[in-house]
Amino acid sequence: MSVALVTGGAGGLGVAIAARLAEEHAVLLTDVNAERIAEASGRLAANGAKVAHAVCDVSRRDSVQAAFAAAEEQLGEVTVLANVAGVGKFHPFTELTEEMWDRTYAVNARGTFLTCQELVRRRAGRPGAIVNIASIGARLGMEMVADYGSSKAAVIELTHTIARIGAPSGLRANTVMPGLIWTDMWRTTAEWLLANGLAPADATAEQVFAGTVDRMVPMKRPQTPADIAEMVAFLLSEKAANITGQTIAVDGGTVMT
Ligand SMILES: NC(=O)c1ccc[n+]([C@@H]2O[C@H](COP(=O)([O-])OP(=O)(O)OC[C@H]3O[C@@H](n4cnc5c(N)ncnc54)[C@H](O)[C@@H]3O)[C@@H](O)[C@H]2O)c1
Repeated sequence: MSVALVTGGAGGLGVAIAARLAEEHAVLLTDVNAERIAEASGRLAANGAKVAHAVCDVSRRDSVQAAFAAAEEQLGEVTVLANVAGVGKFHPFTELTEEMWDRTYAVNARGTFLTCQELVRRRAGRPGAIVNIASIGARLGMEMVADYGSSKAAVIELTHTIARIGAPSGLRANTVMPGLIWTDMWRTTAEWLLANGLAPADATAEQVFAGTVDRMVPMKRPQTPADIAEMVAFLLSEKAANITGQTIAVDGGTVMT
């Protein structure tokens, strides 16, 4: 059984992606949140999945290396990687500080670089597959997410580089751009919009999210964690053996490429 490593595995998308990948792979779930990753892993194991978990802060090389070592020890050599860990908050551009910028880049851009580099080094000229999670925010020039959107654009270009490096040996790398999914990330965003008077005061956070979906998504529906998990599983499977260096939006038509 091949071994998949999932970062951000305790989050809304990470849990769904890990659960879907566990249908085909042994899975090491990793996240910086120790309590939630143990819970998520326990739930999947209770459903019969072959899983293990490790705490991993993707922004730190030692932590990333330890996660790969834990996977190898507990499940076997990692051949498949899903980079789901990410952070993103709304800030007006004029209030964005260096610290906010650096933190967003440390997780989203450097974290993706470190895990991809570790897999490429370990596979050393052998096949493998990577999916990096970006965002429609990488393509829309959204004024409240200069740090987040540009860090996700960096993920897309990094994926192109890895795809080119890995192509001769069959190591593939693709990016998935999720649209709008109701997870902790969006709950926090909707609450921020309400707290800053940028959404109708009598609305709930869920209604603020629904209004955003209505304005932004041509298909007028939010995406689900399962929508994203299905695309990730496809791109990491042999069915996608001839697909590399691509960026696929799963967003109800919000970004058309
Ligand atoms: N929810 C959406 O609408 C949406 C849209 C586009 C892209 N995305 C992307 O999808 C991914 C998952 O987001 P989500 O919606 O599940 O959010 P989430 O907040 O539920 O999950 C993010 C996870 O990343 C983990 N994390 C944060 N910093 C980390 C670090 N340094 N090392 C390891 N893990 C870390 C968090 O603990 C959390 O479990 C992110 O990369 C996000 O940018 C989400």
